[in-house]
Amino acid sequence: MSQPTIESILNENRLFAPPTELAEQAHIKNLEEYRQLQARATTDPEGFWGELAARELEWFEPWTQVLDWQPPFAKWFVDGKLNITHNCLDRHLSTWRRNKAALIWEGEPGDSRTLTYAQLHREVCQMANVLKQLGVQKGDRVGIYMPMIPEAAIALLACARIGAPHTVVFGGFSAEALQNRLVDAKAKLVIAADGGFRKDKTVPLKVAVDRALADNGAPTVEHVLVVKRTGEAVEMVEGRDYWWHDLQAGASGTCPAEPMDSEDMLFILYTSGTTGKPKGVVHTTGGYNLYSHVTLKWAFDLKDTDVYWCTADVGWITGHSYIVYGPLSNGATTLMYEGAPRPSNPGCLWDVVEKYGVSIFYTAPTAIRALSKLGDRYPNARDLSSLRILGTVGEPINPEAWMWYRRVIGGDRCPIVDTWWQTETGGFMISPLPGATPTKPGSATFPFPGIQADVVDMEGNPVTGNEGGYLVVKHPWPGMMRTVYGNPERFRRTYWEHIPPKDGQYLYFAGDGAHKDEDGYFWIMGRVDDVINVAGHRLGTMEVESALVSHPAVAEAAVVGRNDEIKGEDIFAFVILETDRDPSDALAAELKQHVVREIGAIARPGGIRFTDVLPKTRSGKIVRRVLRSLASGEEVAGDTSTLEDRSVLEKLRAGE
Ligand code: WT7
Repeated sequence: MSQPTIESILNENRLFAPPTELAEQAHIKNLEEYRQLQARATTDPEGFWGELAARELEWFEPWTQVLDWQPPFAKWFVDGKLNITHNCLDRHLSTWRRNKAALIWEGEPGDSRTLTYAQLHREVCQMANVLKQLGVQKGDRVGIYMPMIPEAAIALLACARIGAPHTVVFGGFSAEALQNRLVDAKAKLVIAADGGFRKDKTVPLKVAVDRALADNGAPTVEHVLVVKRTGEAVEMVEGRDYWWHDLQAGASGTCPAEPMDSEDMLFILYTSGTTGKPKGVVHTTGGYNLYSHVTLKWAFDLKDTDVYWCTADVGWITGHSYIVYGPLSNGATTLMYEGAPRPSNPGCLWDVVEKYGVSIFYTAPTAIRALSKLGDRYPNARDLSSLRILGTVGEPINPEAWMWYRRVIGGDRCPIVDTWWQTETGGFMISPLPGATPTKPGSATFPFPGIQADVVDMEGNPVTGNEGGYLVVKHPWPGMMRTVYGNPERFRRTYWEHIPPKDGQYLYFAGDGAHKDEDGYFWIMGRVDDVINVAGHRLGTMEVESALVSHPAVAEAAVVGRNDEIKGEDIFAFVILETDRDPSDALAAELKQHVVREIGAIARPGGIRFTDVLPKTRSGKIVRRVLRSLASGEEVAGDTSTLEDRSVLEKLRAGE
């Protein structure tokens, strides 16, 4: 089994010290320095964050108060004025970085492009002016539905430039999912591309936008700005749709950065939860700018000489914080790659590392497992000696994958930075500091300086030892989400009420289980709620179940995660059909396709089992624990006395 299990990680006692040379030159050089920062941040959080904000960012106007905490609502750097694009672009232009590579881009078919800070600034200003010309004003929401091309980063920054919160929808999501998000965010405009390249095929994006907007499907959307990427034929609706290259030609390359209040909304990003539709996670300007900036600087020891590459998609928070905002705010060179390992080019990632001399590489456990399956010959055939730090994110990493990453990709010399965080946290929360933290394979190690994380029971009492508990954060931090868009009550309920305040202290509940070992190392055990983590992407069981029951043949559905060697988890669905429908392989295939249409390819169930019964409690709640065991082919362990009808178990075991 490739998933980390309690047994496998409890036996993990290998320890890897930071390389001496790296440590000597690192921003944070040893554990003592980390402990001092952490002690200072704990006794005087406002002093700690206030000093960092003054040192690391440029502000148009200073704040009057570092933190205003009315649990669970926080305001950071109250009354401060800034624009994140000023920190990401303008401030570098008066330095030697003006002509430094800000963005290196490699396209899947092999085309490439490099934008210096001055060039990126110019294009961002041009797009910002085009958005204004199309009627977008400060405060208007803009949807972004793009492949991994430079214009995706430019689009984020152009919105931020004029104070229009963006909401990026991952290009792999369906028209249906795009429509839901555009409606919830009441977006005024959509920035899209004709299509993108994905594993040697094209993905039609504009067609999906047209479908999302058809029949007044997202009535607030007035215009679509379309970037040409694949060159495939698309329909342009007169008066609604405009080509970016047409409007760019006449657009000025200067556009003042709108002074934003520190608490003005920067973006909404939708993520799956336990109940209902995906929620719009709201991040604001000042705190997010500081947090994405400083976490990247310290956790990846980011230097001006680095070529930094994060393989995520801009459609996820990782792309927001650690492809665009964090690296550019630091004046770094950030690399963006449109492609992915595919049969025609299984070693493409290592080609990119070699071609550009990548020094920091950040990816996900699911990718590491898939790459290790391909064997050592692809990485071994490339010069990877430029690498100095490796990162991982998205799900727990099993020690074997961690060791392979370290040995084969990192040549046994690169520290591995396992970063635990979430869409909601804005940036890293638990992570090694590569010059300071001795690492253990599979552990995210210690909370970031300024973060007070703990493992507690349902009452909020700290738990130590192997049994584990719930991962919580005990003090607000600048990068935290501020609310659920349009639903502050859902914000309170989801994150702050599961575990009651302890001695007046509010506890942020992350939805993950964890345990702390005797050295204080955190080991993340994965979600404890009904969220499935497929290849590092979150999906709510409810979301997939709703998609299934929206098919006319389905009466009831229950969805669980099943262990998967590469993806970590895979979706498995138990389906009860309407009485007039008969189970068949064709119907199973149709239902899978239906889920893809409703949500996107990442939600495609790996398996469907037709059944006549589901295990439920007396109050009618589905007992997923039982289904999880059945889906994974394991014995159903634990208490089954809460089942309303225990014969259901026998029927399911018998395959009825
Ligand atoms: C969930 C958040 C933050 C970017 C990627 C996903 C899981 C994330 C780790 C890690 C163990 C991890 C958690 C978390 N997760 N990083 N290093 N070790 N688990 O963002 O979609 O908001 O998902 O991903 O379960 O709650 P997201």
